[in-house]
Amino acid sequence: MLDAAITAAQELGPHDVAIVLGSGWTDAISSFEQAGDDVPVATLAGFAQPTVAGHGAVVRSLRAGDVRVLAFTGRSHYYESRDVGLVAHAVRTAAAAGCRTVVLTSASGGMRDDLAAGDLVIVSDHINLTGASPLVGATFLDLTDLYSARLRALCREVDPSLAEGVYAGYWGPNYETPAEIRAYRAMGADIVGMSTVLEAIAAHAEGMEVLAISLVTNRAAGLGGRLDHADVLSTAAASVDRMRALLEALLPRL
Ligand code: HPA
Repeated sequence: MLDAAITAAQELGPHDVAIVLGSGWTDAISSFEQAGDDVPVATLAGFAQPTVAGHGAVVRSLRAGDVRVLAFTGRSHYYESRDVGLVAHAVRTAAAAGCRTVVLTSASGGMRDDLAAGDLVIVSDHINLTGASPLVGATFLDLTDLYSARLRALCREVDPSLAEGVYAGYWGPNYETPAEIRAYRAMGADIVGMSTVLEAIAAHAEGMEVLAISLVTNRAAGLGGRLDHADVLSTAAASVDRMRALLEALLPRL
């Protein structure tokens, strides 16, 4: 997979920062100046065509001030293939393209009492429920500082109203049961989603600084109404102005 990441990175050219756009996040980059033509992921070495509604299928090169941003408008989720190499491929490609920082965005269900649909949460730590890791072999990587304190502070500086919380990375594609949600709350998680954790580990292993931001699109199972991906997308659409404002302020400073 590493060879494929290098080949894909050569196609994309050198960049400083990568951003992976989660469900409903693609419109949040619409105001940035585009630095080249969109590259369909299907034409890039090692990538699979995204299969999830609300996810784009291109990589876009953007200018955010002086920062060259590589934006992945969709991602590969673990539930699409159960192939951790495929999940990690975008961040490994970004690392091969020279990116020292990655911003992982996502949608999630809120578990903590104060988190409602439409809230943006800076991920402070995670609980990886997938039972998987993108690393193979005796790679005993320290994850103590996985989510960069420096970048979290920068994010709060840009928007002091942002919440922070622990992200539980669920395997999907089914949503959690209410009993699982009670268990994950008791374990110390605040939000739950189906992405981020494997990419964050892979990025850390590549020596990248990791920032993860999640949009709460619903209360988690058993804490609100029934769960539906269409509601996830409509909440994201309703929140896109805030997501865009955050990225406009943040990306040029990374
Ligand atoms: N659970 C898991 N993933 C999600 C959720 C959820 O409630 N909402 C958006 N993505």
